[in-house]
Amino acid sequence: MKILVVGGAGYIGSHMVKRLGQLACHVTTLDNLSAGHRDAVLCGEFVQGDMADLPLLNQVFAQGRFDAVMHFASFIQVGESVVEPAKYYRNNVVNSLQLLEVMRAHGVKRFIFSSTAATFGEPQYVPIDEAHPQQPINPYGRSKQMVEQVLADYDKAYGLKSVCLRYFNAAGADPEGQLGERHDPETHLVPLVLQTASGRRSHISVFGRDYDTPDGTCIRDYIHIADLCEAHWLALQHLSHGRGSDAFNLGNGSGFSVQQVIETARQVSGRTIMVQEAPRRAGDPARLVADATRARQVLGWQPQYADLAVIIAHAWRWECART
Ligand code: UFG
Repeated sequence: MKILVVGGAGYIGSHMVKRLGQLACHVTTLDNLSAGHRDAVLCGEFVQGDMADLPLLNQVFAQGRFDAVMHFASFIQVGESVVEPAKYYRNNVVNSLQLLEVMRAHGVKRFIFSSTAATFGEPQYVPIDEAHPQQPINPYGRSKQMVEQVLADYDKAYGLKSVCLRYFNAAGADPEGQLGERHDPETHLVPLVLQTASGRRSHISVFGRDYDTPDGTCIRDYIHIADLCEAHWLALQHLSHGRGSDAFNLGNGSGFSVQQVIETARQVSGRTIMVQEAPRRAGDPARLVADATRARQVLGWQPQYADLAVIIAHAWRWECART
């Protein structure tokens, strides 16, 4: 199978490219390297370029004759999206539309889209299933929901089949140790905690200890990057077998507080991790936990690394290899 991975040099994309290579797929990565790393693309062909570059997109599609596209190239910082919405709507929406247009022009009919728990907004109940109302509360979440809506319309009108995968908190690293999380600036909890453990940071700030949760810190559903990639592969199989467009929530169904993540990181690393109390971060829901029953039932998804200690151990190995 020939697959175009847009954003294949980023955190999730690079793990996906490696997995597709193991599955004997012919992979082409398109990435502008604004956030990704060339050396994270471990197999296949690499094209440095932007989704906004229409001639380049046409050239890549003409040469690639792809069976499917996986799209990981988006801006992901909620706070930044509030301050710079234009950046988010242009890249995450306008550029995604262009990608879909080029797919249509070249007759490529299968699309796997990286969506997010942020499309649900403030949870009305947890765990969050696919029936939960989607009412995003920031431009990042709205940008992803817009593309989800476009995809539903494109299926009806053009027969473009898609699966939207709504990630909860992606974490961990390649179990074989070759890849990991390398955002700059890093904003995600697990790598920041581990950078504190390794001594690259002096402390981890805990954003709020007055939430309505058992220890007062926010609860999230951490999902191993390898399990996330497996769900993408299964989603592609789903479409390849002629099944319809769909959307799935991806998480383990168990929530861990910021405090529990820090404690687990202490146990895994055996290091001291200095904590500093900080005010709440704007827009953080107290509790985000996925109900991924449909992904299990419909896609046959079975997470292999649901244990938080394993997720953190893999991320810790990656952190140690870099320090
Ligand atoms: N946190 C801290 N200190 C830090 C960083 C994070 O206490 O230095 C807390 C956050 O407040 C939050 C939890 O750790 O409660 C997890 O934060 P992350 O930034 O790691 O992840 P988010 O839950 O904010 O973000 C994830 C995805 C986003 C997506 C969002 C949906 O990474 O792309 O879920 O709400 F938009």
